[in-house]
Amino acid sequence: MKIHVTDQSGTEHELEGLEGWRVMEVIRDWGLNIKAECGGAMSCATCHVYVDDAWMDTVGAPSDEEEDMLDSVGDVRANSRLSCQILMSDDLDGLKVTLAQSAA
Ligand code: FES
Repeated sequence: MKIHVTDQSGTEHELEGLEGWRVMEVIRDWGLNIKAECGGAMSCATCHVYVDDAWMDTVGAPSDEEEDMLDSVGDVRANSRLSCQILMSDDLDGLKVTLAQSAA
């Protein structure tokens, strides 16, 4: 399954991911600019992405805990998510996200 990731300089990348992987892991393992400092423990917010509007319903809303963590970064929008909290599944094949500046 594939995801489309636009990096901080506006370049779009098509990345191959496996079911059950975190979107953050896919982005990191393909070498894009994502710090993901805490490795997916939801305690850093340096895996911040913007979910494409067309995918918002499928991806779903963040948990309260995730929202609290997102509040700690300055560039949060209505479609902000922590990419370590989005798991790859068939439903998300073709997902589009954009890396936030705060993830770099
Ligand atoms: Fe730290 Fe996602 S990797 S919150």
